[in-house]
Amino acid sequence: QATSIPADRVPDIGKRELMNLLLLGAISLPTAGMLVPYATFLAPPGSKGAGGGTVAKDAVGNDVIAAEWLKNHGPGDRTLTQGLKGDPTYLVVESDKTLATYGINAVCTHLGCVVPWNAAENKFICPCHGSQYNNQGRVVRGPAPLSLALAHADIDDGKVVFVPWVETDFRTGETPWWA
Ligand code: FES
Repeated sequence: QATSIPADRVPDIGKRELMNLLLLGAISLPTAGMLVPYATFLAPPGSKGAGGGTVAKDAVGNDVIAAEWLKNHGPGDRTLTQGLKGDPTYLVVESDKTLATYGINAVCTHLGCVVPWNAAENKFICPCHGSQYNNQGRVVRGPAPLSLALAHADIDDGKVVFVPWVETDFRTGETPWWA
């Protein structure tokens, strides 16, 4: 009954809400739970244009410009951006100072905590129950049952654009569980 929000306003509301959540830094477990229905309701898949791509947003909500990003993020850097459906997603800078062609979804496959990057350990280590993922997000220690989800990180008109990853997971050789 009360679902008649004008379609053109929906994405803006969604982005603002999700960015507020991102700005909290580490999204807590209950908050992450709320994020999913929000994202599903406010940003249905395919609402962002052809191909389902979404421009990556930095921590203050600006579009990520690849060249600018690389000025401030050195080799090996993994920094969170807002990705597909508002999911916190790591942009990866390769050792040759280029952006990796994949982003790593930071939502732990155990119970949904946002997993921080630990540069000293060269791993993603979940603070909630200790799951570990290698530097590409492949699970190396449970209780997490699965690797972190991937997204393509393309560059379109200078901006980083995340596109759903439906191909084989190059880390495991398996069909992606998230697609
Ligand atoms: Fe990450 Fe449990 S939510 S280990």
